[in-house]
Amino acid sequence: MTIETNPDGGRGGSGAMFDRIAPRYDLLNRIMSFGLDRSWRRLLVKNLFEATREPPSERTHWDVLDVATGTADVAIAIARAYPKARVVGLDPSLEMLSVGHTKLAKEGLTRRVSLQEGSAEALPFKDAEFAASCISFGIRNVPDRLQGLRELARVTEPGGRVLVLELNEPEGRFIGPMAKFHVHHVVPRLGAWLSGAKEYRYLQESIAAFPTPSAFAALMEAARLTVESRLPLAFGSAHLYIARTQD
Ligand SMILES: C[S@@+](CC[C@H](N)C(=O)[O-])C[C@H]1O[C@@H](n2cnc3c(N)ncnc32)[C@H](O)[C@@H]1O
Repeated sequence: MTIETNPDGGRGGSGAMFDRIAPRYDLLNRIMSFGLDRSWRRLLVKNLFEATREPPSERTHWDVLDVATGTADVAIAIARAYPKARVVGLDPSLEMLSVGHTKLAKEGLTRRVSLQEGSAEALPFKDAEFAASCISFGIRNVPDRLQGLRELARVTEPGGRVLVLELNEPEGRFIGPMAKFHVHHVVPRLGAWLSGAKEYRYLQESIAAFPTPSAFAALMEAARLTVESRLPLAFGSAHLYIARTQD
């Protein structure tokens, strides 16, 4: 078992809430995003390294950090896409990590991906320890987002990429209202019905409370990250923020 627990038992953010939905999380993700969540994660993985700045080929491995790894979908996708990657997935929810560990064992990836309990605001890693880092559908749950982003910048080597994938209130005059209806009315009801848990109300509320894409990009800049691009997905209901740490 490669799940490391935090000795001080720190369970930041809403890790406890995710403990309750962990067994149904992957299935509900697929259903509620119409299967799009997988392609969004693939896009993140593809952009983890700038084509011209891939870590030097003479390195035996590249360390990559996936914060708020949950059930480890992104960590697994990174390990599959980059055979030289050694991935650390970190999350405060032991139940989510446990589902992730079962998947790693099935994929034969337990030697290249390790899972660790912890919170984004206090990453238990040295400065510049990772060639790249990311957080997918996680920063929304981090109580102190600026501190979480500062930590991602700190542990990533100078010039390395830091990627954030996150949902926000849908934009746009035509599709926006339909997407908003999906998030505000369909997701909480479908989530409650399929999972028997009221936690899917939180999903809608946390999306509504998340900053606009330009305000979030400004927060990334405040954390000393240079935002290179911001890709709207699904008619602007999610964004991939591609940034790099300052050299
Ligand atoms: C919606 S899930 C995303 C999981 C995964 N990254 C994915 O793409 O499916 C959000 C995750 O954020 C984690 N989380 C909550 N608070 C956190 C914190 N303070 N630091 C790091 N992760 C946190 C939760 O435990 C949960 O696993």
